[in-house]
Amino acid sequence: MTIWCPSLAGRRGPKYLQIAEAIGEDAAAGTLPSGARLPPQRELAYLLGVSLQTVSRAYAEATERGFLKGEVGRGTYVRDGSAMTAELPSASLARPESGPIDFSLNLPAPSLAAEALAQSLAALSGTGDLASLLDYQVSGDAAGGSKRHKDAAAQWLGRVGLEARAEHLVLTSGAQHGLLVALMACTRPGDVLLTEPLTYAPITAMAQRLGLKVVPLASEQEMLCPDALEAACRRVSAKALYCLPTLHTPTTQTLDAERRAAVAAVASKYDLILIEDDVFGFLPPKRTLPLACFAPERTFYVTSVSKSLAPGLRVGFLHAPVALTHAAQTAVGLSSWMPPPLMTEVAARWIEEGTADRLNAFQRDEAAARQALARASLPVELVQADPHGFHVWLKLPPGWNPEVFRMAATDRGVTLLAGAAFAVDPALNTNAVRLCLSHESSRVRVRAGLAIIAELLESGGEGGALVL
Ligand SMILES: Cc1ncc(COP(=O)(O)O)c(C=O)c1O
Repeated sequence: MTIWCPSLAGRRGPKYLQIAEAIGEDAAAGTLPSGARLPPQRELAYLLGVSLQTVSRAYAEATERGFLKGEVGRGTYVRDGSAMTAELPSASLARPESGPIDFSLNLPAPSLAAEALAQSLAALSGTGDLASLLDYQVSGDAAGGSKRHKDAAAQWLGRVGLEARAEHLVLTSGAQHGLLVALMACTRPGDVLLTEPLTYAPITAMAQRLGLKVVPLASEQEMLCPDALEAACRRVSAKALYCLPTLHTPTTQTLDAERRAAVAAVASKYDLILIEDDVFGFLPPKRTLPLACFAPERTFYVTSVSKSLAPGLRVGFLHAPVALTHAAQTAVGLSSWMPPPLMTEVAARWIEEGTADRLNAFQRDEAAARQALARASLPVELVQADPHGFHVWLKLPPGWNPEVFRMAATDRGVTLLAGAAFAVDPALNTNAVRLCLSHESSRVRVRAGLAIIAELLESGGEGGALVL
């Protein structure tokens, strides 16, 4: 009988964390099926050439993260998949006027979108062609969205400078679905997906579910660095890079045109597919062209209306490389047939009638107003933010542990995420927390939450929060 042994090749950081990470990946990929018993610690220690204590710590860490469960006297077992996905943040959309102030979710500000929806639904109910919105729209050219809806999408993508061609546009159920579709279209189990060291966490879980190996770029710089990308491409044979070149989550940074061109050049040299997440791309009033404009032949451009109009519409736009458009349309068909036509109809109408521009402008202005509050409330030297972004990457003064800061903020009534929530490599040290300003119901509550954060920073370790 062969004994399961984790592959530690290419991993960095403490050995016990490498092993815990490998357990999580193998469990997600099914190499370690639910209920499987892990090798006795002594045996694994021998196989890996590490101490028994290292394996004990690794099992404890993997148990803590929800990958394993231990049964006294019976050994250590892989937990079922539901326990692993339960770790993903669950979005609660309630935006109460009292209670904890929520800086943890990167959602658009409450807007007049509901009124616009009421009008659109009333107008739609008077048209004669509702039946077509109740049909499958998957035949021929219509796969992944009807021609009119795609034309509207192409018009909308023109706002960010992308000359989208309707034949390479695929409509998705939001950007999350677009990312899954892009991964399904261009990877096979076992492929390597590169990411920035800090990134949008669901991409890692998604990639692992598809059996991909996720490799973060070296972490000297927070911003996507062409040299680090080249070094990674030399080290591993990677299939694709997932990145957020505009208003990055969580660091808020935006790549300039020069860096975008350099990233595109490296991608071309190593035949790497680029998956560009531009979900915040509609916020800046003036912006650099999408990465897709620099490498159209190899870039999946993924965006949605979630941050600019309303997330509940679940409408996303994917612009695919010529050679992979068909694969992307097939992936949409496999995963959902199509986004709900009623929703793409509403989005198309909003784009055609100018409602989308108005709602987007509202989000842009509200984001700018809330960012101004942050600049006025927090020590400027600690604030890393874009004047038009939804979030702030708050650098903590030396001595603070972000997780301890998060817990102290929660105790004081403000929820937020510590930097580790975005680290692909759990051993990566971050000294920052993310504050999302857009989700809260009003600027009054944002100001109140920022005051609590400012006080906490000033307290410099009150209540034992300072790590010496
Ligand atoms: C960086 C990033 N990418 C993608 C998504 C998914 O967005 P959507 O609601 O369009 O699925 C989100 C949502 O929070 C996000 O923050």
